[in-house]
Amino acid sequence: MEQFIDQPRLPKFAVPKRYDLRLKPDLTACKFSGSVSIDLDIVGHTNYIVLNAAELSVDPGSVSFTNRNVSKLMKPSATNLVEADEILVLEFSETLPIGTGILSIVFEGTLNKKMKGFYRSTYEHNGEKKNMAVTQFEPADARRCFPCWDEPACKATFKITLDVPSELVALSNMPIIEEKVDGHLKKVSYQESPLMSTYLVAVVVGFFDYAEDHTTDGVIVRVYCQVGKANQGKFALNVAVRTLELYKEYFSVPYSLPKLDMVAIPDFAAGAMENYGLVTYRETALLYDDQHSAAANKQRVTIVVAHELAHQWFGNLVTMEWWTHLWLNEGFATWVSYLATDSLFPEWKIWTQFLDDSTEGLKLDGLAESHPIEVEINHAREIDEIFDAISYKKGASVIRMLQSYLGAECFQRSLASYIERFACFNAMTEDLWAALEEGSGEPVNTLMNSWTKQKGYPVVSVRVKDQKLMFEQSQFLSSGSYGDGQWIVPITLCCGSYEVRKSFLLQTKSGTLHIEEFLSDKSDAVSAWIKLNVDQTGFYRVKYDDNLAARLIYAIENKYLTATDRFGILDDSFALCMARQQSLTLLLTLMDAFREELDYTVLSNLISISYKVTRTVADAVPDLLDYVNQFFIRLFLYSSDKLGWEPKQGESHLDAMLRGEILTALAMFGDDLTLNEASRRFLSFLDDRSTPLLPPDIRKAAYVAVMRRVSTSNRMGCESLLRVYRETDLSQEKMRILSSLASSPDPSIILKVLNFLLSDEVRSQDAVFGLTVSREGRETAWKWLKDNWEHISETWGSGFLLTRFVSAIVSPFASFEKAIEIEDFFESRNKPSIARTLKQSIERVQINARWVDGVQNEEHLADVVMELAQR
Ligand code: BES
Ligand code: ZN
Repeated sequence: MEQFIDQPRLPKFAVPKRYDLRLKPDLTACKFSGSVSIDLDIVGHTNYIVLNAAELSVDPGSVSFTNRNVSKLMKPSATNLVEADEILVLEFSETLPIGTGILSIVFEGTLNKKMKGFYRSTYEHNGEKKNMAVTQFEPADARRCFPCWDEPACKATFKITLDVPSELVALSNMPIIEEKVDGHLKKVSYQESPLMSTYLVAVVVGFFDYAEDHTTDGVIVRVYCQVGKANQGKFALNVAVRTLELYKEYFSVPYSLPKLDMVAIPDFAAGAMENYGLVTYRETALLYDDQHSAAANKQRVTIVVAHELAHQWFGNLVTMEWWTHLWLNEGFATWVSYLATDSLFPEWKIWTQFLDDSTEGLKLDGLAESHPIEVEINHAREIDEIFDAISYKKGASVIRMLQSYLGAECFQRSLASYIERFACFNAMTEDLWAALEEGSGEPVNTLMNSWTKQKGYPVVSVRVKDQKLMFEQSQFLSSGSYGDGQWIVPITLCCGSYEVRKSFLLQTKSGTLHIEEFLSDKSDAVSAWIKLNVDQTGFYRVKYDDNLAARLIYAIENKYLTATDRFGILDDSFALCMARQQSLTLLLTLMDAFREELDYTVLSNLISISYKVTRTVADAVPDLLDYVNQFFIRLFLYSSDKLGWEPKQGESHLDAMLRGEILTALAMFGDDLTLNEASRRFLSFLDDRSTPLLPPDIRKAAYVAVMRRVSTSNRMGCESLLRVYRETDLSQEKMRILSSLASSPDPSIILKVLNFLLSDEVRSQDAVFGLTVSREGRETAWKWLKDNWEHISETWGSGFLLTRFVSAIVSPFASFEKAIEIEDFFESRNKPSIARTLKQSIERVQINARWVDGVQNEEHLADVVMELAQR
């Protein structure tokens, strides 16, 4: 048996073909019982059957294997459940006959509270507290519900039967074929599924209402919501129907199941899960309330629905062969969700907003503790941590880069043939490259290997010398040092106008381009702006020499550049500043060029950069803090004056979102007028929750303003906000409040708020949204984390949510002493599920510390800041 212990994958001598699965959840006792008969193909000589199982009690007497041909029933001589490896080892006294047979097992388990495996979620129905039973199997938790070959490559069909209380709704991947009521119970049988992986199997049992529609080719789509709230499902329903039709066109393959159900689950660890035909969501990612949801909520619902439906093709129909290729699923679904959203709502300019995602990938991948997109996975425990910005955001960004290099049409055509070739099977990263290489004639495999098999990305430095542009690539690291990676970089550039374009592959360390080669007017060579990475489709940063940087600032001020390019220049400059390759003075001067900025995405990046700059100035030169604040307030007043507090009739989605962001920023920076106006509106909101004075888009701004104003002597605001939290039953409202509470400058209030997060008034899925703590509360939060670590680690310890506690509270620090203190604290408390995040967070603290050092030593900073503040 030893040969099966501590192995990354299951042995391959038995291949599952079909599962006949019966489950009986007991929602009162929070237990379940079940039985499974698995059609197996025995393909190698063996005395063993080894499959996955965890936290289940298997009845050894129930286990049998019957060979089809000889019709012989065999009982295992030993049945071992090895919890450490999550495997069930069945040993037989004779060799199993080659060929097909049926393995039968009876088992029991607990409907747990950990939001994985087969778990319970709680809700209120007619004023009564109820349990519902839900599954969440990705990445490797189907084994917590039934014994199975729990690997994505082991595809089989599933015939599921449920025994449930007769008054409840019971859903699974496929449509119901029969319901038989027997007293209080009913037996619900579902159609057999097509070939699929275990991580996509799903069951939901509870009280629900639904809204229904269908696609033009007759796929029935339903959104299941809390009883009485089916209306909140209508927006997502419409998005789903249109998205299914769009993907059918895009992938040239129709949706493969007869129905699609989407369900809002009150307790849910991730944002949503793409189970085949039965997609589960957090409430905030699926429900939309006409009265109380904000434009940002609408956008989130659209993106999440489009993402999960993309998986129905990319992930469910064609599945990664192993978790190393997880990024194929997640990176691709992320990319395609933007494509769908752009087609549904072009006015949202979602591809500009995509840059928010990209930059998160760039930030994580700028750490020495990053990892390659394709990452080796040797144990199920390691999978959770790779659902990160590398797989999702860098993954989506490199796909975008490739698509823009190959051209949209060629890309789509090759994709469709990839989907057709691998439908119902599994694929690896190189299979996708092969299809794209075939379709384009370009060396896709070589090009992309440089992006997916090594971590990091390049910064391309560019300078002008004697009418020539000189390029040089080196690996960018936020620490300021350089790594030794090298990439094949698709360089694009524009010169003086978007009409004058040039592109080439930078395959070596450096390259040169003669400017005259592509300029019609030679005089432009010395003055025209030159922007690399046009439209920011490439996953790299650009560092311009002083001369080129000045030309770009001029171009921004004169509004020659697109929003995506403005975003890129700003974002790269910020990253270079943090890595101490550019001065803060230069960054601030560049930011000043955005004083008439009105684009949503550019402004929201400007805002988040301004928070980080403020934090660093507060640590480095506290005397300058007031001036920096003043400068940022001035920077944001331009757009806030244009937008005002009142929504304008027929205004754009982006203006509605921008108003909220800008007012929130002004509240954060302590702008008095904003704080006063916010309080006034908040008071009337307290009297009447439907007051037109506080529409959903600006509520967060008002909440933040209220929290920035409260002090120990004035706790009223905080209490009132908590009252709103308790009285609303809309998750999105609760999230707006949770994410505002810790912006208070008062450490004693911060402590109160953090303790509130641990109370049973906050679902454990939501607590992480309350961890964005104000600068003033940083120490308090760290002490709180240490004091409560045992409880937190216990409660959130079984998934990726725990990593948020570490990164949110640790990363804002900016001193080497603190980095050591944090290391010391976690030395005895580290565990595999947080190891990578902890290293990354500590690296961030060190990067911040170096940045603070750099800023302290910067000459002329004070002069420039004061001048900018008073302009
Ligand atoms: N497959 C994931 C859900 C998931 C995440 C399962 C982590 C197990 C561990 C799903 O498709 C997903 O990516 N959901 C995202 C939302 C999406 C819009 C980025 C999420 O949960 O945040
Ligand atoms: Zn996904």
